[in-house]
Amino acid sequence: MQVNQNFLNLEDSYLFSTIARKVNEFQDAHQGEKVIRLGIGDVTLPLTKSVVSAMQEAVSEMSKSETFKGYGPEQGYDFLRNAIKDYYATKKVELAADEIFVSDGAKSDLGNILDIFGTTGTSLIPNPVYPTYLDTNTMAGRKINFLNGNEKNNFLPMPEDGDGGDLIYLCSPNNPTGATYTKEQLKIWVDYANNNGAVILFDSAYEFFVKDAELPTSIFEIDGAKTCAIEFCSFSKTAGFTGTRCGYTVVPQDLVRENIKLNKLWLRRQTTKFNGVPYIIQKGAAAVFTPEGQKEVETNIRYYLENAKIIRDAFKELGFWFVGGDNSPYIWIKCPDNLDSWTFFDKLLNEAHVVGTPGVGFGSGGEGYFRISAFGARENVIEAMDRIKKLYK
Ligand code: MLT
Repeated sequence: MQVNQNFLNLEDSYLFSTIARKVNEFQDAHQGEKVIRLGIGDVTLPLTKSVVSAMQEAVSEMSKSETFKGYGPEQGYDFLRNAIKDYYATKKVELAADEIFVSDGAKSDLGNILDIFGTTGTSLIPNPVYPTYLDTNTMAGRKINFLNGNEKNNFLPMPEDGDGGDLIYLCSPNNPTGATYTKEQLKIWVDYANNNGAVILFDSAYEFFVKDAELPTSIFEIDGAKTCAIEFCSFSKTAGFTGTRCGYTVVPQDLVRENIKLNKLWLRRQTTKFNGVPYIIQKGAAAVFTPEGQKEVETNIRYYLENAKIIRDAFKELGFWFVGGDNSPYIWIKCPDNLDSWTFFDKLLNEAHVVGTPGVGFGSGGEGYFRISAFGARENVIEAMDRIKKLYK
């Protein structure tokens, strides 16, 4: 018997588990103190009316033998795949329903996708970035090259900022920095991938926060992307599904490597290892795409973007360097007084009772930076920023 030794190359615990443990310890030692959590990007607004009534109807269908459903199609029910397809059409992206795979969220698919790639390749991973990419590649034993994000490139690294790779991870709007690639920048990436036979794994979980009409919300808005990219999206941040779980992955039929359609491999992988998202949840997800559902999620996104503005304004007033928060729910600040990320985390927790996420948790390139999430309740965001202002004025 052999264990997967690659696991020994991981940090002891996943970033957000470490933060949760530290905050719980602090809270236990300071009973009665109000700690404001702007760390993990977890939504606070409840599911919208349309989503809830669609799910209630689905529950009622499940209670009658005539409408009860057992196993569903592993890749998602047609009603949801078609709703997603129609949503992409509004961005002028034509997809076939069989290019869309419904899943329980972007995080699972971003990890699972490695099943369809060989283990000897090199992954090109931004630094800093969402830690799941690095951890899942480490588990799979793939070679990793980093793509350096920094103030000079506005945390939007381009091919020249790394040493290349055959699997390229891009996240836009970015987690953790909130920075968003332009169409021109993504075109450079698409050309790079097509010219080098690489595949881009594009994480667009935060696409709904893009309000600048010039900025792309899908890699497939870029010419040539269908021959080099897979896109991962989620209802978590768009529609408050962090605890409800539903997402989707788009694998174009035109994406072929070594004469093999990656769509066919992903279908084989999903039908073997995944039994689909519950019918009730998929019904709720489909309601997001109705006109009423779109209006409701837009209202919620505007609420979080207003929080982001409150956070940005506070840091502007304090004279801190930051990016993000305009087309994204994350604000990425430079720690004051040259503090390292964890020292600043401890200072905010101990002296302002505010929790954020240390930038170094997203990779060595995040050292000296700090992420604040705009997903909190309005009154908590205001109170947190007042406390930080008091601490630094
Ligand atoms: C984050 O805080 O980075 C996200 O909530 C984590 C996730 O989406 O899994």
